[in-house]
Amino acid sequence: MIAATAVSTGRMILRGGRPLSGEVTLRGAKNSLPKIMVAALLTGERCTLRNVAGVADVAIVSDLIRSLGGEVAEVEPGVLSICAANVRPMERAVLKTFSGKSRIPILACGPMLARFRESPVPSLGGCRIGTRPVDFHIRALQDLGATLHDESGNAHLTCERLYGNKIHLDYPSVGATEQVILAAVLAQGKTELANAATEPEIMDLIMALQKMGAIISVDVDRVITIEGVPELHGYDHAAVPDRLEAASWASAAAATGGRIFVRNARQVDMMTFLNQFRKIGGDFAVTSDGIAFWRREAGLHSTVIETDVHPGFMTDWQQPFVIALTQASGVSIVHETVYEERFGYVEALNRMGAQIQIYRECLGRVPCRFGQRNYQHSAVIVGPTPLHGAEINIPDLRAGFSYVIAALTAEGESTLTNTNLIQRGYENLIPKLHALGAEIVSTE
Ligand code: EPU
Repeated sequence: MIAATAVSTGRMILRGGRPLSGEVTLRGAKNSLPKIMVAALLTGERCTLRNVAGVADVAIVSDLIRSLGGEVAEVEPGVLSICAANVRPMERAVLKTFSGKSRIPILACGPMLARFRESPVPSLGGCRIGTRPVDFHIRALQDLGATLHDESGNAHLTCERLYGNKIHLDYPSVGATEQVILAAVLAQGKTELANAATEPEIMDLIMALQKMGAIISVDVDRVITIEGVPELHGYDHAAVPDRLEAASWASAAAATGGRIFVRNARQVDMMTFLNQFRKIGGDFAVTSDGIAFWRREAGLHSTVIETDVHPGFMTDWQQPFVIALTQASGVSIVHETVYEERFGYVEALNRMGAQIQIYRECLGRVPCRFGQRNYQHSAVIVGPTPLHGAEINIPDLRAGFSYVIAALTAEGESTLTNTNLIQRGYENLIPKLHALGAEIVSTE
């Protein structure tokens, strides 16, 4: 059964110094699967979702759908059958059990409004990597005709029905784009969403919705147009493979000097990453089954990167890539423009021997919301620096995986705590590490 048990312990001791080499297999993307599950709430017909990974958000959304009266069953390994025919309006008491666990429940607001004309607004979880507000989500639902009631901190949305509208996002937020799409598919009339995000995971959601009967077009200038339809049907859909996990293993190969074949990795979703990987001295071979990654003999060298929305360099690629940059000759610069607080993890890397300095200034050219606001969002990495083992408490998912790579790059033993956070995005972490020859001293 798909459950959040990929890493069942909160503590791991790793001994580093060996190249990671071998093969890992990707399944559906952590940032795609739960959204396509939410889309199943838009129909009473049965939906089949394939390529499902055992990550925490899948388990959380399965529980959410069941607690609303829907069915979710794993009918074969990695295949979910979802039926929302008997779903009821969402009660705040039910929602409270999901409070703080995940950011996905906010996406159920649109389908709940479309079906029942009301929805409570959940208080969210997810990684602590900045303030992560939901103002764009609420404003977009209001633009589509919902009214926000906020009595004694219990925010609630109601509507007569949802109507298409012209919406402009202040920033191309992934979640807000998905919110608008999921709410507008059953709205009356046409919705034109400008400054939308266009990540491959959003395209995956759109493809599932198109199978359900939705009419959604994506224009070159970041405008997504949704023509509301009266009803939607079931889907049979295989989720796009996880390009964040693929880039994480690629960075691990570069940092440790190994060679990792990532089965199911897709070039089309990773072109920006692959360019940067090659520029720093990594190399790769693309086949129809996946991509092999390794470090060229001449070693790694420094680069300049700026994180950005798709098709830019993803913010979620940043942390594992920085571990590889600690092993690169020269001075690298990383300008983080998506989240204001995504360099908290470097303090522990510096304790391991890295030389990374964080700056408030924008060290780059991408227009950024954080430069004049005192956020430490640019990093300068001087390398190569040998790393040594340390005791590290994991603060968030991507930082967590990065510490695993750092620990396996370092000489000596490292003790990582709070490792259960890694299960949010990396299924079967320990078996995969074993398969790559990592020395795992103990796990709890
Ligand atoms: N933002 C607002 N207001 C909003 C929504 C977003 O100001 O109402 C801001 C955020 O604070 C952030 C920026 O907009 O500074 C981008 O946030 P976005 O909404 O795009 O992020 P998200 O939808 O919450 C998803 C992924 C993240 C990934 C980002 C960016 C999921 C479940 N999460 O988050 O994934 O970093 O898009 O690509 O899809 C991860 O996988 O480790 C992860 C954090």
